[in-house]
Amino acid sequence: MNKAALILALVAAPALAEPDAHALERLVKQDCGSCHGLTLKGGLGPDIRAQALAHYEAAALQAVILDGVPGTPMPPWRPLLTDEEAAWIAEYLLDGDRE
Ligand code: HEC
Repeated sequence: MNKAALILALVAAPALAEPDAHALERLVKQDCGSCHGLTLKGGLGPDIRAQALAHYEAAALQAVILDGVPGTPMPPWRPLLTDEEAAWIAEYLLDGDRE
């Protein structure tokens, strides 16, 4: 990261502390949905609706989101998401109470 980008990241950090629920919800539907299906019930990737993920701790799901599943098409999202955003998505998937 160059110096200007670092300074920008530091200045922007407080604003990023609170995950942007709308943006993340859209990302889950569009980006995750492109493999897991628009309703997340599965496609190229498996069903990731709440009932299918019930055996996961939120922290384990967060790790899958950040690191992907090596050797499969499930990509790591670390380049695009902060730890907090991945944690938000993990809770969002486990919560499942929406639609
Ligand atoms: C390029 C396609 C692709 C995209 C995009 C993608 N996934 Fe996946 N995902 C997969 C595949 C394929 C697997 C199954 C990996 C395996 O065989 O274990 C998977 C597995 C998972 C699992 C583990 C499911 C389980 O039952 O173990 C979770 C959770 C998950 N993805 C969440 C997400 C989330 C959240 C996003 C968006 C941030 C996302 N995925 C985007 C393809 C994708």
